[in-house]
Amino acid sequence: MKKGIIFDLDGVIVFTDKFHYQAWKEMADELGVYFDEVINNRLRGVSRMDSLEIILERYDGTLSQEEKEALAEKKNTIYRKLLGTMTPEDVTEEVRDTLRKLRKNGCKLAIGSSSKNAKYILERVELTDYFDAISDGTNITRSKPDPEVFLKAAEFIGEAPEDCMVVEDAYAGIDAAKAGNMTAVGIGDASGYEKTDYPIQTFAELLRL
Ligand code: BG6
Ligand code: MG
Repeated sequence: MKKGIIFDLDGVIVFTDKFHYQAWKEMADELGVYFDEVINNRLRGVSRMDSLEIILERYDGTLSQEEKEALAEKKNTIYRKLLGTMTPEDVTEEVRDTLRKLRKNGCKLAIGSSSKNAKYILERVELTDYFDAISDGTNITRSKPDPEVFLKAAEFIGEAPEDCMVVEDAYAGIDAAKAGNMTAVGIGDASGYEKTDYPIQTFAELLRL
């Protein structure tokens, strides 16, 4: 077991993928751009503006930076409204219990998320106090697969990168963990990725690593 554990948020602790999809879909429909769940999968772990660029690959016209920012803002307004429906019940007892036990065992816990809404999500599900630090989209300039968000998280909890392990569901997140010299634990999609050091199927398996 490593001294520091850094958790991705979306797809590991909570499942907000469906909200991202709904919000981007509403924006894409308005713009007349084709968008589906397969394209949505490519947005995992990717920043808001980079996600927009992926969606605009299918857009014929050209948009100014201001127009792009307005679209991203519009998506975020829809997305935050959907986040507003989240409650503590959106986090499983398995996740809460595992986090409590890891901390009790002396591990320092951090969030390492590309999202600028991470703190809002943690508040909604009443999980803020379970973590020693939060590194998110508001304190980085480069998003995953760049290791910046995880390196900041390690710094916030005062642990060396090699003493940290990252829990991720996205390939971009596993790449970021490895680029940051950390141990990569893959759950969900990332459990089948060859760069993952420890694939796990359930959150509670973390207690056995
Ligand atoms: C990540 C999601 O957690 O956050 C991405 O996996 C998303 O799909 C990114 O684009 C940025 O989120 P936000 O909340 O800052 O728009
Ligand atoms: Mg994720």
